[in-house]
Amino acid sequence: MKIQYEKIIPYPFDVVLSQYFDYEHIAYVHPDSLGEYRLVENNGDVIVYDQIWPGRFWRRRSRVRQTFYPPGEIEFEFIAGQHKGVRVYTRLSHHSEGTLVDETYFLPGLPDWPWLRDWIRPSVMRSVERIWEEDLRVEVCYQGWPGVPGSAPPAETPAPLADESGRWVVLAEEDSLRSSPASVHVVSETEIVVFSFGEKLFALEARCPHAGGPLALGAVNEGAVTCPWHGACFEIASGRRESGPVRRDLIAYPLRRVNGTVEIFLPG
Ligand code: FES
Ligand SMILES: [Fe+2]
Repeated sequence: MKIQYEKIIPYPFDVVLSQYFDYEHIAYVHPDSLGEYRLVENNGDVIVYDQIWPGRFWRRRSRVRQTFYPPGEIEFEFIAGQHKGVRVYTRLSHHSEGTLVDETYFLPGLPDWPWLRDWIRPSVMRSVERIWEEDLRVEVCYQGWPGVPGSAPPAETPAPLADESGRWVVLAEEDSLRSSPASVHVVSETEIVVFSFGEKLFALEARCPHAGGPLALGAVNEGAVTCPWHGACFEIASGRRESGPVRRDLIAYPLRRVNGTVEIFLPG
């Protein structure tokens, strides 16, 4: 049986393509729908991985071969374990509103009768839609491991050092910062996230240095924020890196209160 699926994803082609080669995000963004992926072999355009499906007591496994046909076609073949024999053919193309994702699911052992297809299609579609919803909730991640064959590894731009030549700039009204636990602001073209804990406010760079994950969407726990894309964890008060696939701390910006307004110090 063959099932067709189409969706426009409102992100550029490169971002959507990169997300198909980002195995790191699976365990953080799709823990309850896809489980996690573990790389078995990486031969450039052909990558083999084990998918460990979610499950509380018993986790099924699939071995999957993923083949890239540049510039935008990817074939997934379930070569062993759960769903053995299933194939998915994905074609990505540029679209005026982002990227058109066109997928065909080949389900072996099921006859291609229209009534049977109409019966099975909704449940396949629900699973695929759920996965896209999980991705869109965190702005569609990109650049994780092992990456699109032939592409450069994720860049980590060095943090600029604070020096005396910086300046204080108005950030926002204090009340508005307190009304949300995490708010994002753009000040002099710099994206800043402000975390608010009762009386205390902390300003950090808004994007994770690993691959640009939006830290304002991360889970906050015991004074630390976890990047929603691949799980890097940072202390909020200092920006210090605690764990995860990241090689540097976040830039932490000093704040001061001036008559009900909060100002931020931007290094020169
Ligand atoms: S973007 Fe990868 S951990 Fe944050
Ligand atoms: Fe995803």
